[in-house]
Amino acid sequence: MDVPTENPHGCENGFNSEEDCNSNIGFGPSKLGTKDFWEAAYEKELETFKDIRDVGEIWFGEESMNRVLRWMEKTGIPEHAAILDIGTGNGVFLAEMAKHGYRNLTGIDYSAASVELARNILQADGLTDVTVREMDFLSCDGELRGFDVCIDKGTFDAITLNPDNFNDGKKLYLQSLRKALKCEGFFVITSCNWTREQLLDRFSEGFELVQELPTPRIQFGGQTGNSVTALIFKKKTINLDLVL
Ligand SMILES: C[S@@+](CC[C@H](N)C(=O)[O-])C[C@H]1O[C@@H](n2cnc3c(N)ncnc32)[C@H](O)[C@@H]1O
Repeated sequence: MDVPTENPHGCENGFNSEEDCNSNIGFGPSKLGTKDFWEAAYEKELETFKDIRDVGEIWFGEESMNRVLRWMEKTGIPEHAAILDIGTGNGVFLAEMAKHGYRNLTGIDYSAASVELARNILQADGLTDVTVREMDFLSCDGELRGFDVCIDKGTFDAITLNPDNFNDGKKLYLQSLRKALKCEGFFVITSCNWTREQLLDRFSEGFELVQELPTPRIQFGGQTGNSVTALIFKKKTINLDLVL
């Protein structure tokens, strides 16, 4: 299969580092939102890992993992907390969390090559207790439940670039997220295609903003903005009066 030459890192504008990525310059459906794209990208990364043990690109850079890890430690997320990495890619974030002591880790991705790559990388680090499953987050039929923390780094961006389900994707994502996360559980999202306001609007139903993690700021067209947005939401407790 031909490997895409387009930037495989989800920011529709073609920037691939956190500093460069200003995604609010208008974007729409793109092949970066397709499964074929990611499958080809991770097949290539898997080959490279097998050849030279290079884990490939760290999406949004190392700092994007460190800032979330710092928040987890500061917030006192316990080591036994059930943590889900949505669209885990190469699984490097799972490996980092495992190295920080977290021991109830699950990663899912709809790309079989990503799952194989993540398993290879974790195994190479001797991190055999981490679960990685091939699964489409948008059609997981409630299989994912009971998580204390759900993490998304670039996956909501990719899903909302899908030319086939541009609008449905957002709706299905929210449904799966609501099922996967326990009440009072945390949802940690890092995005380069959506602003803080857009994410607040998208996740307003059922979630409340807890914190915005500081990210680098850039100037573009005379305006200053964040290149990447990292937000922590908490899932609200269900009000049974509204359900019944
Ligand atoms: C931008 S990459 C980010 C990968 C990883 N989170 C990281 O930080 O390196 C987006 C990932 O989302 C995955 N993905 C996209 N749509 C998905 C879906 N519907 N279900 C599961 N994974 C999906 C892709 O295969 C890809 O691994």
